[in-house]
Amino acid sequence: MLSEQTEVRANMEDRILSKSELIENLKGADGTITLVTDRIDVEVLERAHRLKIVANFGVGYNNVDVDAATRTGVIVTNTPGVLTETTADLAWSLMMAAARRIAEGDRYVRAGKFKFWGPKVMLGHDIFGKTLGIIGLGRIGRAMAKRGRGFDMKVLFYKAAPLPDADCRELGVERVALEDIYRRSDFITLHVPLVTETHHMLNDRAFSLMKPNAIVVNTSRGPVIDEMALVRALKSRRIAGAALDVFEHEPQIEPELFEMENVVLAPHVGSASRETRLKMSTIAAENLMAALKGEKPPNMVNTEAWDRRRQ
Ligand code: DGY
Repeated sequence: MLSEQTEVRANMEDRILSKSELIENLKGADGTITLVTDRIDVEVLERAHRLKIVANFGVGYNNVDVDAATRTGVIVTNTPGVLTETTADLAWSLMMAAARRIAEGDRYVRAGKFKFWGPKVMLGHDIFGKTLGIIGLGRIGRAMAKRGRGFDMKVLFYKAAPLPDADCRELGVERVALEDIYRRSDFITLHVPLVTETHHMLNDRAFSLMKPNAIVVNTSRGPVIDEMALVRALKSRRIAGAALDVFEHEPQIEPELFEMENVVLAPHVGSASRETRLKMSTIAAENLMAALKGEKPPNMVNTEAWDRRRQ
């Protein structure tokens, strides 16, 4: 799509560019499509004088300093909507994998340990009929609520902004305080963006309030969980398990997590279905081309940048 309309320079290597490489590569560029692994900070934005748009490939855009972009007149876009159900599917699969010990069972069978059927072999936790606590009720959080209802779960949610009662009724969810999510949920799933307020939202205190059978699922951003606090909670059996698609220092993972059978680990693949990644690519390209043509891109996250946009 892009090379038919403009000159394209792409990082075709399977590696993350360093900051100086990013700066070098963005010299003279009018727009860029970035990944979650590309840190677009104030220096990068200032050194890329011609840059008009950062079209981020993903719904999350914490890798971009949006305030700096707005100040310097650079439009930032994301790819919302198309990855909602795909990410919720992954979060749901992780939750089931942790509850029913699927990854652990797979390792067990491959290791030749499956010698006989036994009434106590690989006992897990039921999901149906349990309480699901959703933190963040945006698109993906709502898609999780739908799945929770389909499994006859009681669905609680916490969201900082108010939600009309009619919406709660329609979604079949109950709004509760954050502490009640921790205290009452059997499964806790995170669907918040990474911002100052959500950094280390799940910390020692949060884990101390959870039920001992609680399983925590994270498909949002790693730093929403204090990973060392999670390790402590798992080691001390404060909680029963975790299923993680994202990590605090991604792709580095707290080594102790590798040793724990009650933890399911995935390589940040929430939106990684063929269909969805194609849609995300298309949207990112459309956002980029709109800005280069002087049109307002459909998925601007910093609408204030429009009036200050670089010409
Ligand atoms: C998203 O869409 O935010 C994914 O995590 C990839 O960045």
